[in-house]
Amino acid sequence: MLETERLLIRQITLEDKYELFDYRSDSEANKYQGWIPKTIEEVEVFIGNTAKQINEPQTWFQCAIIEKTTQNLIGDLGVHFIGSENKQAEIGCTLHKDFQNKGYATEALKKMINYLFSELNKHRIIASIDPKNINSIRLVERIGFRKEAHFIESLWINGQWVDDLVYALIEKDWESRYSQ
Ligand SMILES: CC(C)(COP(=O)(O)OP(=O)(O)OC[C@H]1O[C@@H](n2cnc3c(N)ncnc32)[C@H](O)[C@@H]1OP(=O)(O)O)[C@@H](O)C(=O)NCCC(=O)NCCS
Repeated sequence: MLETERLLIRQITLEDKYELFDYRSDSEANKYQGWIPKTIEEVEVFIGNTAKQINEPQTWFQCAIIEKTTQNLIGDLGVHFIGSENKQAEIGCTLHKDFQNKGYATEALKKMINYLFSELNKHRIIASIDPKNINSIRLVERIGFRKEAHFIESLWINGQWVDDLVYALIEKDWESRYSQ
């Protein structure tokens, strides 16, 4: 469990399925996401596929983001442990649209990134983003990710080929940015 000023970040459980379905099934708010569930059963599979423990190579570990004052589940944050040496991770974040634009995603991601670098000794963290997903680009650039690649029509999402931006943050950049 990770805690920030306004949020708790904890592993997702099956008990979260209805709250997760509520905002993840919103196809307009999530139009740049590869996964938009149409049924509760799809959410059960998604939660069931999350790793039992954090930091297992080649798995996704899915967390719920909880607003401390209300105990509302306001979003989720996933970490994908990638690379054969398990020194790299991919992150993704989705907020319920009622809880966007309050700085919550920035607050949650910074905490998780700090944990990944300082506790799990990761070397590099990436994010894969549709170039049209302006809020997501603003989010990672605000935190200090560097744009490393723009792949053209490299992903098949929601019935069409889309471009993919790869953003990355390496540990020494994070250290120099946040240690002053
Ligand atoms: C990507 C996503 C999580 C970003 O959410 P977001 O609300 O834009 O990001 P934050 O929660 O960090 O909020 C930042 C905004 O809140 C504003 N804000 C308002 N009050 C604030 C406060 N008290 N503290 C900090 N920021 C505050 C900031 O100024 C910033 O707005 P700006 O970009 O206009 O400057 C969200 O757009 C989303 O869930 N999208 C759908 C899913 C998706 O596509 N995910 C990407 C997968 S890679």
